[in-house]
Amino acid sequence: MKILFAASEAVPFVKTGGLADVCGALPKYLRKLGHDVRLVLPRYWAINREQYNLKSVISPLSVQMGNCNVWCEVLEGAVDEVPVYFIEHENFFGRAGIYDDGRWEYGDNAERFGFFARACIELCRNLNFQPDIIHSHDWQVALIPAYLKIWHLHDPFFEKTASVFTIHNIAYQGVFHSWFYPFLGLGHENFVEPKFENYQCVNFMKGAIFYADCVSTVSPSYANEILSEPGGNGLSQYLGRRREDLVGILNGVDYDNWNPETDRYTPEYYSANDFSGKAICKRRLQQEFLLEVKGKIPVIGVVSRLTDQKGFQVLAAIIKWIVRNMVVQFVFLGSGEKWMEDFYGGLPAKFPGRIGAWIGYDTRKAHLIEAGSDFFLMPSLFEPCGLNQIYSLKYGTLPIVRETGGLKDTVEQYSETLGTGTGFRFQILDPMSIYYTIGWAVSTYYDRPQHFMAMRKEAMQQNFNWIDSAKKYETLYHKALDRRASWQ
Ligand code: ADP
Ligand code: GLC
Repeated sequence: MKILFAASEAVPFVKTGGLADVCGALPKYLRKLGHDVRLVLPRYWAINREQYNLKSVISPLSVQMGNCNVWCEVLEGAVDEVPVYFIEHENFFGRAGIYDDGRWEYGDNAERFGFFARACIELCRNLNFQPDIIHSHDWQVALIPAYLKIWHLHDPFFEKTASVFTIHNIAYQGVFHSWFYPFLGLGHENFVEPKFENYQCVNFMKGAIFYADCVSTVSPSYANEILSEPGGNGLSQYLGRRREDLVGILNGVDYDNWNPETDRYTPEYYSANDFSGKAICKRRLQQEFLLEVKGKIPVIGVVSRLTDQKGFQVLAAIIKWIVRNMVVQFVFLGSGEKWMEDFYGGLPAKFPGRIGAWIGYDTRKAHLIEAGSDFFLMPSLFEPCGLNQIYSLKYGTLPIVRETGGLKDTVEQYSETLGTGTGFRFQILDPMSIYYTIGWAVSTYYDRPQHFMAMRKEAMQQNFNWIDSAKKYETLYHKALDRRASWQ
């Protein structure tokens, strides 16, 4: 099959979260299954033309938006044999941020990403690349399924092209003032409640749910959660109408990047047969985060966006009691809401040697935390899939998670009677649940070391490879082609 991936971020070029991990890895694995997969991204200012050896392939490209033409250029690069196209438009993407300026969302995001979505379609025609599937990810490219149906339903070039839309996070839907609607060129007849209209605003994701041939999300549990409220963030009834075409496919892990046996960011390799390298990683972690250097104390790691989704506002209420009452260390790496950055950034001064923190984004430190910690904490309010807990399993760093979305689908609860499981789960997001679950993990570390070691080994044997998930997408693509055929 010919498949075009459209997304707003993908590793190694640009990343703000797990979306980039998925869009950087899945095309590579679909290619291994024999498909001609190509990826399109905006050429943000941060993506260096020289570093990635990007070459101009179309110049200029005309993209019709509303009643005007917007002109851009297309550059081409590659990663792991996947051709990657970049839409170059200085005014829309030649700025320091991706979605915001560090403080505020860009006021023209509707235009920036509306244009990008339409450019992805024009690009195919100009390259004479006739895709069987256009697979778009999240609100930024949610208009693609709609453009395909509204503008190209009977266009011979796209006559057979089906659309798949993946929801990575339904909390971000791309909702904008209706004054942007004419520029998007979607037709006033489609500014109606079942499609784009949402309390007089235009909702990109709602449109994709209506128009896409198939809709997926990134774990089976999350697929279930978004079918009702509050999980659906107001869209559950529209997803309910597409229930037959909605599926949850768990994200995989790119074990080429996240594997303690080959990790180029950590000071030492290790495996389930020999943990001596993990002790070295732990020592380095403690040194780097100014913790007391000690082998026999559990380290709890956190790598996260600091937003309400991730639950760290609740941990904030209890962390001092955890540190006072338990012999444990914490390491935080994250950025996000200002108050949380200030709170977690200020903890090392209050608990020197016990809590380490680094506010910002740093890939090497993220790998070191996975490798050097004993536990990994994700108390998420909701979590469509979550990747860090899956990385943690591979590093023998036992996840402590709230039972939601992908966390529920990937972490197996510890059984104190059998000594089995791969992590520690709790249900209710409140300070006491976090307190007691961390207490349970810490007491397992000290009092049941044989269980702790057995869990580590079990965790490291879990296999969330991308090939299995890629095969599920393959099945979904076939279904989408059938759905597309029925729209004639
Ligand atoms: P989300 O996409 O909701 O943020 P995921 O768990 O799916 O959550 O993915 C987060 C990804 O971003 C992981 O690869 C994680 O390592 C990375 N990440 C998050 N915060 C940071 C940070 N401060 N520094 C480095 N990597 C980070
Ligand atoms: C979103 C979700 C996260 C998921 C990621 C990749 O950012 O918040 O749970 O793992 O997308 O699908």
